[in-house]
Amino acid sequence: MMKILLLLITLTSLSAYSESQNMTIMKGKWHFEKRCAFCHEKKGQGGVAPNLTDNHYIYGPTKAAMSHIVRNGIKAKGMPEWQKILPKDQVDAIIEYVWSIRGTNVKGKAPEGVKFYLIKKEK
Ligand code: HEC
Repeated sequence: MMKILLLLITLTSLSAYSESQNMTIMKGKWHFEKRCAFCHEKKGQGGVAPNLTDNHYIYGPTKAAMSHIVRNGIKAKGMPEWQKILPKDQVDAIIEYVWSIRGTNVKGKAPEGVKFYLIKKEK
């Protein structure tokens, strides 16, 4: 099957994160390093699990799609269902953190999934 490459218009978001968003992201980073780094590595650059810093997405390039995967996991692939393991506030913070590192392209595991040129990374 032919892969459809979606070319979306790149619009860099100019506004910085608010202070409370920064606090959430920092909290998410802390929990990410504790819970996710085992498979995705410390900076999210990928190991046994995909690189979460590139612009390639297996399950879709939106925060909503990513959030769904983190909450529900992918049982067949060994990605845990985090909503059953961690308190909601921790899962929410981790999602904010992972979304913030998307597109930062930390050198690591080779890209998987489909490349997207992000329209706008909503915050
Ligand atoms: C036991 C290993 C393991 C742990 C721990 C783990 N993951 Fe995963 N994760 C995976 C695997 C394997 C995949 C790839 C699934 C696939 O290829 O279908 C994945 C996929 C993902 C994806 C989808 C990537 C994409 O391109 O769409 C996201 C997002 C993700 N993980 C986030 C997290 C977060 C956040 C945590 C910590 C709360 C976490 N993972 C912890 C194994 C893990």
